[in-house]
Amino acid sequence: MLDTDTSAPFSTLIRTATEQQHNEAEHSTFMRDMLTGQLGVDAFLRYTGQLWFVYEALEKHSTALASDSVAGPFVKPELARLAALETDLAHLGGANWRDELQPLPSTAAYAARIEECAQEWPAGYVVHHYTRYLGDLSGGQVIRGTAEKLWDLPKKGDGVRFYVFDEITNPAAFKREYREALDQLPLEGPEVDRVLDEARLAFTMNTDLFRELGAEYSPASPGI
Ligand code: HEM
Repeated sequence: MLDTDTSAPFSTLIRTATEQQHNEAEHSTFMRDMLTGQLGVDAFLRYTGQLWFVYEALEKHSTALASDSVAGPFVKPELARLAALETDLAHLGGANWRDELQPLPSTAAYAARIEECAQEWPAGYVVHHYTRYLGDLSGGQVIRGTAEKLWDLPKKGDGVRFYVFDEITNPAAFKREYREALDQLPLEGPEVDRVLDEARLAFTMNTDLFRELGAEYSPASPGI
């Protein structure tokens, strides 16, 4: 396999390297069925519950990572999602949401990989951070608007708080600065390919999760 042309800015490399996987994630059967109103709010609750494990892994080591020279510039309190997820889960699933919450095998594998990177490989952690938070600030906004309409949830309120970044007043500027920080990552030689492989893995792990959710939730058959 040819080595990646590393002359482009890293933010371009990572977007290009994951374009196909992004497409697959965006057009997965589960996402399509959920966002076209063919699944009930129970599917959205189940998906939100799985995200809890992902964000717990992303945010569990924030304090240590904030002072890391590689990951530090990305760890920002205005991105933190765990508290918002908990509010959404309580709204959608009731006060006892925690009792029922179990990770699917794909979620457990995804969270374990994030945690491994958080503890051992800061540059790997950064690509997991990018895959989720930049996605939440982008396509996540489409999911929020659709969920509000489909399930009559309060606009930017409980149930969809995960998608609301109150402290980011200018998302376009935030994403621009985030990409600039990606371009400053001290990556050299084979590390670039390694990190891009991890980014593809991060997307694939999201698609794996959608596949598992899709096996649990499918549109009702005609006549049911
Ligand atoms: C319904 C599903 C989705 C839709 C409609 C969607 C849509 C979009 C759109 C329109 C952008 C471009 C935004 C911009 O340039 O400012 C974007 C970017 C992005 N999305 Fe998605 N997306 C979806 C699912 C996902 C998933 C599942 C992930 C990964 C977990 C993801 C990760 C990303 C990332 C990381 C970016 C930033 C790309 C970059 O500029 O470097 N998206 N998405």
